[in-house]
Amino acid sequence: MEVFEIEGGGRLEGRLRVNGSKNASLPLMAAALLTDKPVILRDVPDLADIRNMIRLLTELGCEVEADFEPDPDSGERSVTIRPVDETHSHARYEVVRTMRASVCVLGPLLARRGAARVSMPGGCAIGDRPVDLHLRGLEALGARVCLDSGDISVSIPGFETGGRLRGATVFLGGSFGSTVLGTANVLSAATLAEGITMIESAACEPEIVDLAKLLNSMGAKISGAGSPRLVIEGVESLSGADHRVIPDRIEAATLMGAAAITDGALTLDNCPVDAMLAVTEHLRQIGVEIRVGPHEKDLLRATCRVSRGGDLKPVVATTQPHPGFPTDVQAQLMALVSLADGNSVITEKIFPERFLHVPELARMGARLHRQGATVVVSGVRELTGAPVMASDLRASAGLVLAGMAARGVTTINRVYHLDRGYERLEQRLERVGAKIRRVKAEQTVAA
Ligand code: UD1
Repeated sequence: MEVFEIEGGGRLEGRLRVNGSKNASLPLMAAALLTDKPVILRDVPDLADIRNMIRLLTELGCEVEADFEPDPDSGERSVTIRPVDETHSHARYEVVRTMRASVCVLGPLLARRGAARVSMPGGCAIGDRPVDLHLRGLEALGARVCLDSGDISVSIPGFETGGRLRGATVFLGGSFGSTVLGTANVLSAATLAEGITMIESAACEPEIVDLAKLLNSMGAKISGAGSPRLVIEGVESLSGADHRVIPDRIEAATLMGAAAITDGALTLDNCPVDAMLAVTEHLRQIGVEIRVGPHEKDLLRATCRVSRGGDLKPVVATTQPHPGFPTDVQAQLMALVSLADGNSVITEKIFPERFLHVPELARMGARLHRQGATVVVSGVRELTGAPVMASDLRASAGLVLAGMAARGVTTINRVYHLDRGYERLEQRLERVGAKIRRVKAEQTVAA
């Protein structure tokens, strides 16, 4: 098993390019199942989750060409997906269990092939993750839904004789806000439904906007993307498309946190500043300077300079659906304010159990007091290196930030969690001055 060994204390300085978004890429790749023409996606990151999705699409009868060698000019890679055999519609447990986001093939398979069988995604490290809203939405479009031997089975009655999904009004709200992948599923399915669908309380995340953009370029008729009300006028078929994935706002936020916690200065290219205003606003309150060039035309792919203007200040933050503060940056924020001058309050509203990083940060000297879904962080003067355990993707990113700022050596176990969402993170951080290396577990120095 591989671990990261980080020697803390260095400043990060230099320039990095933000990669294409993982969370945008996964539903975009699944949307290719809605056609039999090629869909070309540019700037797809080379990550374990993406490779799992390629494997799943291949099992579902797609030819997938993945060119992960970056283009020398743009730094982008591309993936071309073309369904050639549309007789399969079963996403097996062996694949789904490695990646919960496999569930986003459900809507596209149903709408195009008339049926889909997807192994029920289990819980994960950040708590129970039900799919009831996905199913309720598909049912509202006329799908028959049942649970069979651990699989979710959905079908369109009378598909063989020309039956289609039917446009409908679908309410996707829950007590926490909306569901991102649930919106992706219902939106994708509704593109091929007969008549008009209105999704109310739709997720407003930039990844949904990107999905709607791809679907529209394939011939769908979607309006309202980015707002809680999506209106979809169903069409009979969709064609191929050539689409550039939006940059990863969570990776960008993590790199901003890395610059701030090491008192460094990073220039980030391809940074989606317009999609991360809650993050940049909170970072500014903490004392982080984020400067975007005045002549930037595309604020979803901007260049920005991140540095620190003095001591870190405490903050009050609550995770919320977009455009609120993202749950996927909560752990990184907690690492950062564990070194702030005062008490911060962080409340998790999306996944109330998403605090596996709390005991690990405490092992490094952070002073954290959790009560339910809220953690009070009393800033300390320094963190100290320790062996810690990565538990989920973003929790691990928080530990990397803490490790880079800590005195001494931190070893982070189970870095495969990080590899699901950050491409060769250690190499990129090393390029800008971090002392971080990936080693086999038995080679670590005792920390
Ligand atoms: C996506 C992101 C994930 C991010 C999350 C919230 C991907 C691949 N993953 O996950 O990184 O942390 O959005 O921004 O894009 N819920 C229900 N019923 C449902 C669906 C969801 O109760 O049918 C609840 C969940 O338990 C959670 C909340 O809704 O409390 C939000 O989850 P959701 O937006 O669905 O997360 P994902 O789309 O799975």
